[in-house]
Amino acid sequence: MINVLTELAQHVADGLHRTPKALSSMYFYDDAGSRLFQQIMELPEYYPTRTEFSIFQEHGAAIAAALSPRVGEEFALVELGAGDGAKTKLLLRELLRAGTPFTYAPVDISAGAMTGLVEALRHELPTLHVAPVVEDYATALAQLRTRPGNKAVLFLGSNIGNFGPAERLDFLRQLAAPLAPADRLLIGFDLQKDPRRIRAAYDDAQGVTAAFNLNLLTRLNRELGADFNLAHWQHYTDYNPLNGAVRSYLMSTQAQQVRIAALDETFDFAAWEVIHTENSYKFTLPQIAELAAETGLRVVASFTDAATDFADVVLATQEE
Ligand code: TRP
Repeated sequence: MINVLTELAQHVADGLHRTPKALSSMYFYDDAGSRLFQQIMELPEYYPTRTEFSIFQEHGAAIAAALSPRVGEEFALVELGAGDGAKTKLLLRELLRAGTPFTYAPVDISAGAMTGLVEALRHELPTLHVAPVVEDYATALAQLRTRPGNKAVLFLGSNIGNFGPAERLDFLRQLAAPLAPADRLLIGFDLQKDPRRIRAAYDDAQGVTAAFNLNLLTRLNRELGADFNLAHWQHYTDYNPLNGAVRSYLMSTQAQQVRIAALDETFDFAAWEVIHTENSYKFTLPQIAELAAETGLRVVASFTDAATDFADVVLATQEE
């Protein structure tokens, strides 16, 4: 395991010295954060999970077939950011039914989420081979490069949207590099739509998303001995239809100082200054094709819901 504490401290030191201040959404997903994200996925406003679930219900068999083109040849199914695996179980059922032998290797940064997933799979799909990995994406990518044999990689939800444009290209190139011609990638892309629906998905009426974002400060208080007073912070989010980006912020509602014991440092925040915590980009189908072309990939098949709110795209390397 990586030394998360030291890494977190280093990250916070870097992020809070930037202008504007920024912290990575990767640190949302401690065990409490993973539980809050599960609540987000249940919210009426948060359509991505439900929509991707319906795509898997409708097209599960076709997606499973596209993921394992070599019938009868064993492969590894690696999932980056598996979380509670609720959607993936639909695909796992289809793959088990199809009969090609495979091992499911879920990767997640939260040990708590992984324990829950492994337990659930043991009960619900007792014949499935599971090889869990509790790591961040960078470590998982490195492991992917040395993993022998056929593979299919899942990157679901709207996780791909959490990268900025340059990071996204870099990440996809790294994912593409270890793929052999018969290997496959399945990526979920949230599509551009009514901006009010998009905004609402990241600023729900019950305040669960706000609690999720603010939990990052609770984590810094606990793990780095910070003294963020949550009463003086709020969750704020906007959507820019020009570039398709939802941005989430933690906003300081008054001028204040915050001390972080682990860094032995005090940070100044002006009234209404933000810490940028998350990008969540929304795509168009032509942008997805272009992204594939730019990263050495080709679109093998793409599946959407009837309203084209969301796309699940199967990709492969350009050489056949
Ligand atoms: N990957 C999720 C998404 O972009 C994460 C997420 C959902 C999120 N709601 C959020 C991140 C609110 C920060 C704030 O849809």
